[in-house]
Amino acid sequence: MVFGLFKKKKKKPSGPDYVDLSVKDIIKETPDAITIVFDAPDMDYKPGQFLTLISDINGEEIRRSYSLCTYKEIDEYPAVTVKRVQGGKMSNYLNEALHIGDTITVMKPKGHFTVETNQANGRHIVLFGAGSGITPLKGIASQVLEDEPNSTVSLIYANRNHESIIFRNAWTEMIAKYENRLSVSHILEEASDNFEARTGLPSKEMLVELVNDLTGKDPAYYFMCGPAPFMEKVEEALEELNVPKEIVKKESFTPAKKKEIETDQSVQRTVKVIIDDEEHDVTVQPGQSILEAGLIMDLDMPFSCQSGMCTACRAKCLNGKVSMEESDALTDEELEEGYVLTCVGHPETDDVKLEFD
Ligand SMILES: Cc1cc2nc3c(=O)[nH]c(=O)nc-3n(C[C@H](O)[C@H](O)[C@H](O)COP(=O)(O)OP(=O)(O)OC[C@H]3O[C@@H](n4cnc5c(N)ncnc54)[C@H](O)[C@@H]3O)c2cc1C
Ligand code: FES
Repeated sequence: MVFGLFKKKKKKPSGPDYVDLSVKDIIKETPDAITIVFDAPDMDYKPGQFLTLISDINGEEIRRSYSLCTYKEIDEYPAVTVKRVQGGKMSNYLNEALHIGDTITVMKPKGHFTVETNQANGRHIVLFGAGSGITPLKGIASQVLEDEPNSTVSLIYANRNHESIIFRNAWTEMIAKYENRLSVSHILEEASDNFEARTGLPSKEMLVELVNDLTGKDPAYYFMCGPAPFMEKVEEALEELNVPKEIVKKESFTPAKKKEIETDQSVQRTVKVIIDDEEHDVTVQPGQSILEAGLIMDLDMPFSCQSGMCTACRAKCLNGKVSMEESDALTDEELEEGYVLTCVGHPETDDVKLEFD
């Protein structure tokens, strides 16, 4: 699957998965990141989930995922934070052209980078964030600190420099509000006067040392989100610390390297796809993904990143076999239950039947 390979969709997305939201506020967080606050106080979501923003940019429908940075119990309105990516279509459009009062179509919250909280818990949660990867972690930290009065949260947060720290003031306010239950350890690539931070690129050794310095109970859970090189270093550090994989949750904003899959390149297959209780026959050409084939037929299949990262295109395989170029975004339980990612999924057999949630 190649990024942006899909045919342009002309009709405006509609149906129970989509909603038009009005922009209530736009907050400039850093020189290249904004927080978009939506006038949707009743939105049902979990911190750490993401919205898919859909815009028509120069006649092309663009969809991108943005994580919610808010928690309903303390933030009246849901919000996402968007950092510019050099040459990026959506992130630059939103930073430059979106205004308060505009309406934008979004796909309802999705994703499993979330935490279950319980007032009786007294545990230590460690968060690793870098750059815009801080967005879902902010909501998760708020939820744990607010819901679990006996739990603590430690954030290890890497950025290029002092100016690029997203939510810099919000973290300071949260440290004061939750007294000694929240700690933030900054790592900055470029040193900054009068600001306490480790300097340099995050290395395995630096991260191991920072985790070892955290006081209190053994961490119960680790969450990580950031660019691929940062996540690799965190994974190396956690391996060195013998942290079991079952207590580590990870969200990727950029596509991982795809697995080579062995589908028969000469065979066209028909896949049965159930959407909103209606069954459709989708003809998948050799090399095409199931999502790509469905969109060409103009079916309303849900999708966002188109690269196996976000799970928006998840469907349950009721019959047959589907192979995936990438499946890291699905949990072991989802894989066992037969869920597949249609944007990177190819039918391996002639009897594949899929159902969307
Ligand atoms: C589940 C999920 C949640 C996300 N949450 C957020 C969020 O909260 N805040 C946020 O700012 N972004 C988030 N992203 C990333 C976001 O969806 C877009 O990928 C990003 O804004 C770039 O889109 P674009 O249209 O501007 O760039 P594109 O036009 O898609 O890409 C331009 C170029 O940049 C590269 N690129 C794409 N994404 C990135 C990236 N993140 N970092 C570096 N290079 C990249 C592409 O490979 C391409 O070469 C999330 C992604 C996922 C999958
Ligand atoms: S659309 Fe994001 S995983 Fe398929």
